Amino acid sequence: MTEHVRGEVSNGVLTLTLNRPDKKNALTRAMYQTLGDAIEGEADGTSVRCILLQAEGDVFTAGNDLGDFAAINRGEPVEAPRGGNPLLSALARATMPIVAAVNGRAVGIGTTLLLHCDLVFVSEDAVLTTPFVNLALTPEAASSLTLPARIGHARAFAMFVLGEPVDAKTAVEWGVANAVCSRTELRGRARAAAEAIAARPASAVKLTKALMRDPAALAARMQIETTHFAAQLKSAEAKEAFAAFAEKRAPDFSRLA
Ligand code: COA
Repeated sequence: MTEHVRGEVSNGVLTLTLNRPDKKNALTRAMYQTLGDAIEGEADGTSVRCILLQAEGDVFTAGNDLGDFAAINRGEPVEAPRGGNPLLSALARATMPIVAAVNGRAVGIGTTLLLHCDLVFVSEDAVLTTPFVNLALTPEAASSLTLPARIGHARAFAMFVLGEPVDAKTAVEWGVANAVCSRTELRGRARAAAEAIAARPASAVKLTKALMRDPAALAARMQIETTHFAAQLKSAEAKEAFAAFAEKRAPDFSRLA
């Protein structure tokens, strides 16, 4: 584990805690690697039977680190992991059940990763957003497939293109989350659910999860998405979006074709 991702095992549950609260748990390449390795590493584990994903601070995660995106946009040499983002490939292949406890906002991949989780608990003040187009980017994590499938095309388009936020109650109504909890209840509720899964017969749990998903289709969609995402990351539109975030101002795309 790293300074920004803690991992601990108890009662058959591997708890992964995002721990970069000063940057709203924005995900760096090192954090993706740690999370991906942890999820892959438990594929054949015997002591771990469920993964619980949670976060410190008042935001679940602000999504990808925008400083990292800006560096790619500037053409700085960035070590790209072979096979793409290790968290995404681990999520596509995952057979281990994953429970998420969403404390507050979940931006970008913070929301799209929830579509790979099996049970999702959200705090009352949770807000889910996928503002890819606001950043001149395109959907990732196979969310161009999974989000419309889960909530319908019109709602998914509004989330992707207009950046429309989804509050906790709506997330439950739309089938993205299981339940809304108070901040104080959130971790306990998610942990109890993860321990309940861990107490079930492990093979039956894994087979059930596997039957409910199509890893080849998810991986194929991620690959197509990555091509577009990578090209957009280097675009003039994205340069303006990242500069606007760094300068704490609204972007102006009007002069870009
Ligand atoms: N990448 C890098 N740093 C980020 C970040 C991100 N995605 N999100 C927040 N931070 C940093 C801010 O730059 C700030 O750093 P500073 O204290 O050194 O200035 C710190 O985290 C706190 O963020 P701030 O914006 O002041 O917090 P807030 O509570 O007002 O707002 C958010 C929280 C999540 C709404 C806001 O930070 C945000 O919109 N972040 C960008 C989300 C995003 O577009 N992600 C990419 C999706 S693909």
